[in-house]
Amino acid sequence: MKHSGGPWIISGMKENNAQHENSVRAFLQDIVKQPQDHALFMNMLSMLEHMGSRKIMLSQMNKTLTEDSLKHLAEEARHAYFFKRQAERVAGHALDGYVDENTMCRVPALMYFGRMDAGISKAVAPDDPYPWVSLIIELRACWLYAIYQDVLDASDLQLSLKSLLAEEDMHLAEMFEMCGDDEDRLKTLSAYETELFGKLWAELCISFANRQKSLLAA
Ligand SMILES: [Fe+2]
Ligand SMILES: [Fe+2]
Repeated sequence: MKHSGGPWIISGMKENNAQHENSVRAFLQDIVKQPQDHALFMNMLSMLEHMGSRKIMLSQMNKTLTEDSLKHLAEEARHAYFFKRQAERVAGHALDGYVDENTMCRVPALMYFGRMDAGISKAVAPDDPYPWVSLIIELRACWLYAIYQDVLDASDLQLSLKSLLAEEDMHLAEMFEMCGDDEDRLKTLSAYETELFGKLWAELCISFANRQKSLLAA
């Protein structure tokens, strides 16, 4: 495929998300200092990674399953495992499944994923939604995890997202290759996801602030 720029340039992702960068960084800087809240946040990331893996499995079930897509779904499942494990380590106890009590903003996160998947699938029909949904998810994962890694580097936590980030980077390049040349589509879909992400992030900020308030009141 011929592209005039990489996925970051074409999607306009970084410019469109400059509005969220400070709030995301501030949220992460605060939450990594609160182990119990940090655990709930990581369990939410685990849930989203698990949904990504499951989505690849379901969408490819009736197609010829390639080594690449099998590898992709296995890596997303491993990311879900990674965040679950780290969440439990930080919490100091098991966090079984994904329920309201152990998953920050469980319902808004489910809605974010469901709307993004449905909206993108509708917009690209009758094309296979798999590479497009994945491409948009990978852009978000790389964007968010890069800021998260910065924050972790500056913290006392022994936690690194580096190998996970390297895999997301690889997925991003692969999905970009699969999607081909449709720059307008990439811009539109990325802007659509950015709006949904903004809503999810606002919910996370409210939820975290409320937990801090109730802690102070206790
Ligand atoms: Fe992932
Ligand atoms: Fe990925």
